[in-house]
Amino acid sequence: MESFATRAVHAGRADLTDLGVHAPPIDLSTTNPLSSIEAGRDAYDAYAAGEPRADGMTALYRRAWNPTVARFEEAMADLETFTSAPADQVPPVAAEGVAFASGMAAAAAVLMSRVAAGLPHVVAVRPLYGGTDALLASGLLGTDVTFAGPEDLSAALTERTGLIVLESPSNPTLDLRDIQAISRVAGDIPVMVDSTFATPFLQRPLTLGASFVVHSATKYIGGHGDAMGGVVVTTPELARQLRPIRTVTGGVMDPFTAYLLHRGLATLPVRMRAMQAGAQSLAEWLTRQDGIHRVYYPGLPGQDPQGLVGTQIDGSGAMVAFDVGTFATAARLCSRLQLITHAVSLGSTDTLIEHPAALTHRVVEEGAQPGEGILRISVGLEDPADLTADIGQALQR
Ligand SMILES: Cc1ncc(COP(=O)(O)O)c(C=O)c1O
Repeated sequence: MESFATRAVHAGRADLTDLGVHAPPIDLSTTNPLSSIEAGRDAYDAYAAGEPRADGMTALYRRAWNPTVARFEEAMADLETFTSAPADQVPPVAAEGVAFASGMAAAAAVLMSRVAAGLPHVVAVRPLYGGTDALLASGLLGTDVTFAGPEDLSAALTERTGLIVLESPSNPTLDLRDIQAISRVAGDIPVMVDSTFATPFLQRPLTLGASFVVHSATKYIGGHGDAMGGVVVTTPELARQLRPIRTVTGGVMDPFTAYLLHRGLATLPVRMRAMQAGAQSLAEWLTRQDGIHRVYYPGLPGQDPQGLVGTQIDGSGAMVAFDVGTFATAARLCSRLQLITHAVSLGSTDTLIEHPAALTHRVVEEGAQPGEGILRISVGLEDPADLTADIGQALQR
């Protein structure tokens, strides 16, 4: 059995040798020549039914299918179902990837699919990325939400519940949720895990009982802050429900983005390993600094009471949050940084810092927002000593 790192390099590239190319070709066609009206009609019907493209089926139109995007989707499905256990011990999980224009378009399609199935009630575990939280709280897509703690989930479920939504690690305070335990409570109700902070390198929720894995591929999957996309990996049956929604609402991934995200997968393991090592040392250093009230990082003592690091997730990830007490102190610190970039988003090669209450979580309703003194760091590939030196000078000045 090959390792995840090997799979990450080769996933979604099976057709390249026959094509006689080494890099995946970027097909920019928006439409495709048809061999006959019948071939076009049959393909149209198949895409409208959400079927994946079968061998020989015509390509038709980019909003329905594109080969560069399909390679990225195949690679994501491959990586999200990876297991190092022998097949006779763990039955393989069947999954398909469905790519979108952004992480929000991906999550929105999952919500719409549950509304379309006649099950619009969503139970969600906070904290969540602010955009997801606000989308659920607004009911814009026809869902109605109950926010519940992980222990109160079963009491919140009704016969109209079509989805449980959670993040692990969560944005911004890196809470870990027991995906296996929550999936057991959910029973037949699909569980959607936003696994953006973990990536398939560290965690594969489908192998733990979840039905939908959602990524903002804009983050670690692309890895360089220059491509925006989202992806859902789910069962073939649920993927059939998502594709027609994507086609009619139009939130498709563009082929050049798919090329960049697919390319990003090859280096995901090395990037994640290096960034995670940097995050661990930064988090430990932060705990020793004066004026820092609390550091949030699952790799610190006492911060993983359920013992999920090493069982559910193969490490603590590369996101760290810390509380400097007040908005004013957080603002001063950000303005004094010289190396670290003050910007939203995460998962890029350079280290980013942001203030969740003012930015990524500003749209979250009052009372559920992160504290005013909390800053969130996405640790990049710089030498960790340079990061601590930068924060150190900002804390002292
Ligand atoms: C955990 C998480 N999920 C989803 C999103 C939304 O992704 P996108 O910005 O690609 O739409 C973000 C964006 O920051 C995020 O942090």
